[in-house]
Amino acid sequence: LPAHIYPNRRNSMGVDLADPLVLAPLREELEEWSHDDPLARPTLRAQRGGKMHPVCSPFSGKEVGGWVSATDKDIDLAIARAVAAQPMWDARGGEGRAQLLIKAADLLEDNMARLLDLCQREAGKSLPDAVLEVREAVDFLRYYACEARMLFGAPQPLPGPTGETNLLRLHGRGVFACISPWNFPLAIFMGPAAAALAAGNCVLAKPAEQTPLIAALAIDLCHEAGIPKDVLQFVPGDGKVGAAITSDPRIAGVAFTGSTGTAHAINRTLAQRDGLIGTLIAETGGQNAMIVDSSALPEQVTRDVIASAFQSAGQRCSALRVLFLQSDIADTMLEMMKGAFDAMVVGDPKDLATDVGPVIDQEAKDKLEAHVAEMAEEGFPVTRLPLPVNCKDGHFVAPTIIEISSILDLDEEHFGPILHVVRYPVGKLRQVIDNINATGYGLTMGLHSRIEETRKFVEAHAKVGNFYVNRNQIGAVVGSQPFGGEGLSGTGPKAGGPHYVTRFATERVTTIDT
Ligand code: SER
Repeated sequence: LPAHIYPNRRNSMGVDLADPLVLAPLREELEEWSHDDPLARPTLRAQRGGKMHPVCSPFSGKEVGGWVSATDKDIDLAIARAVAAQPMWDARGGEGRAQLLIKAADLLEDNMARLLDLCQREAGKSLPDAVLEVREAVDFLRYYACEARMLFGAPQPLPGPTGETNLLRLHGRGVFACISPWNFPLAIFMGPAAAALAAGNCVLAKPAEQTPLIAALAIDLCHEAGIPKDVLQFVPGDGKVGAAITSDPRIAGVAFTGSTGTAHAINRTLAQRDGLIGTLIAETGGQNAMIVDSSALPEQVTRDVIASAFQSAGQRCSALRVLFLQSDIADTMLEMMKGAFDAMVVGDPKDLATDVGPVIDQEAKDKLEAHVAEMAEEGFPVTRLPLPVNCKDGHFVAPTIIEISSILDLDEEHFGPILHVVRYPVGKLRQVIDNINATGYGLTMGLHSRIEETRKFVEAHAKVGNFYVNRNQIGAVVGSQPFGGEGLSGTGPKAGGPHYVTRFATERVTTIDT
């Protein structure tokens, strides 16, 4: 087996929500945690003193917590502490670091209900989505722990044709800034930080300003696991805080997940600084497509389109944005899809019957609504689900299907429950792929086709990071489906894959003559 398969590693089992004996006590625990005050938590308490920014529930609009921004002084001190602690953390070696990451994963699992509560409270996720979120975070911690053991153990001997001994060792680069998004407030907050830690770096972890509560708890649990406080530090704030951290020449690298525009801005900041030449690892936007031809199974397509476009209210980087239907099956497919679309339940994410919850905030809702209005004004056919009455206080966007003529009609990604549909003529697959590639994005792509030549053709020509055939195109599994794109979608390497942790490391070679 290749070394990175790790036969003894198992992904987290999560929680079986279909089992009433599991669900009933979990619901009770969630109810208890729903009265918890997140501001009583050590990490957030330590930040008290400045102006408190509210965190609001996307479902009810009510305040559910708050955060105080790190100041320039806090940032300066945090970097100084991290720089001082890094040599000791690096010297701990891969095994020592792995043990602490595994302990942190165990503590995350032990605190499942608290994490689920916060994930629902501040990110508005459904319970199944919240469970997947915690599982993914746990999987990242355990997978990168395996990587730490394998890559940062004994030095790797290299050939010595002249009789010399050559030894290759990996070390941490220094201090990493890990800047994460609100759509995976735990998994993508923990993942890059865990990889940076595994490689021997100290980390300043900045959560999205919409979702700092679950991140703060995750940091506390990591500290409880034994990861030293100066090695992993919580730095809440908005974009200005991110800019202040990345512009500091003592920061060796930045792991960023968010918009392509912000990744460009970070790249410019790193290029303009003196001091360390910063490494940027960026996971950014997409314009993800799925292609369906006449050999596909209609029921399977319907199920996978609905999941890909509308699960998590379309707020996944991987979500389907543009569905290409071969013209001879388009009417039938659209009729079936609209049947499933009409049956979707929009509502309270706490209700297990809910398929589509709210979007993250008013700004996101306004942008999505403006796009739908613009498309309707331009004459594109728009189909929407009516919003139920219990959705009036939250940031709900009615699930929407818009028929457009080309993917190139879209100027940007629309990050929510909006699916665009394009009909393509038989024999024009090459043109479809060229148009998808012409967006410049390359994150996920789906294909529904039983024709092997078609699969091979798309595989050969599509410039995408994750290509899914005859299934949905969301929910990449750590260690099995390393996730990340190319072009405008990111720098690589792929999260949860065998090349990720090494990008956080620097290589040193010792050559000894006899
Ligand atoms: N990793 C997530 C998925 O595969 C996307 O953000 O859905």
